[in-house]
Amino acid sequence: MNTGIERTVRFVKEQLKGAEAGHDWFHVERVWKLAVIIAQSEACDREVVELAALLHDIADPKFHGGDEQLAITIAQNHLKDIELDPATMESVLYIIRNMSFKNSLESSDEQLSDIREMRVPLRELHVVQDADRLDAIGAIGIARTFNFGGFKNNLLHHPQMAPRLQMTKEEYKKNTGTTINHFYEKLLLLKDRMNTQKGRELAEGRHTFMETFLQQFLEEWEAAR
Ligand code: ADP
Ligand code: NI
Repeated sequence: MNTGIERTVRFVKEQLKGAEAGHDWFHVERVWKLAVIIAQSEACDREVVELAALLHDIADPKFHGGDEQLAITIAQNHLKDIELDPATMESVLYIIRNMSFKNSLESSDEQLSDIREMRVPLRELHVVQDADRLDAIGAIGIARTFNFGGFKNNLLHHPQMAPRLQMTKEEYKKNTGTTINHFYEKLLLLKDRMNTQKGRELAEGRHTFMETFLQQFLEEWEAAR
């Protein structure tokens, strides 16, 4: 294995000690492996994909008082430590900055023109984004979501809180919903947001499993009322 990648694995494991179970080293490891699988079907820079997958959740603002810059600083310092060349470093940092579901909903005109002119590592971003989205759905996605809801002390479900599609960004950020609501505001939308063919294929079964789960969950809930 490339020594920069090996050192990054050690760094991320250390950095994520004690992290919430849905955003811990094992999440990163799954995303890394999925990204490698997807990258095999895409023309992309494998080193950029692997480093970005490994560093993508290094300091999630959700767990660091909303600080959006912290993750970038930590990743940048590490990439300097491993003496990565500046162009590769820029690509990895671009991906980390643009990974999240929230950020992908808001792009400035300048960013859009960079994208059109391929001045950014778009394919690599798409691969890592798909890998992260795959780990958010299916059986593992369900487990992570209830774990996060528990961590936030949220309700599992509320019979009066009908699941709503198309929540506004403000509602989304407030994060006051139930865990079941999170499926409708985000998880069920991910299948149609996959960027790559391989990502779409891998998302199918996972998506169907979530639908089955929700149907059974809501049936059991209703039967008990
Ligand atoms: P992104 O950074 O792409 O917006 P997040 O880090 O917010 O993604 O979400 C990653 C995972 O964390 C989700 O797939 C889900 O499992 C869990 N999660 C995030 N927000 C919530 C929430 N409000 N309720 C339950 N789980 C959540
Ligand atoms: Ni992630």
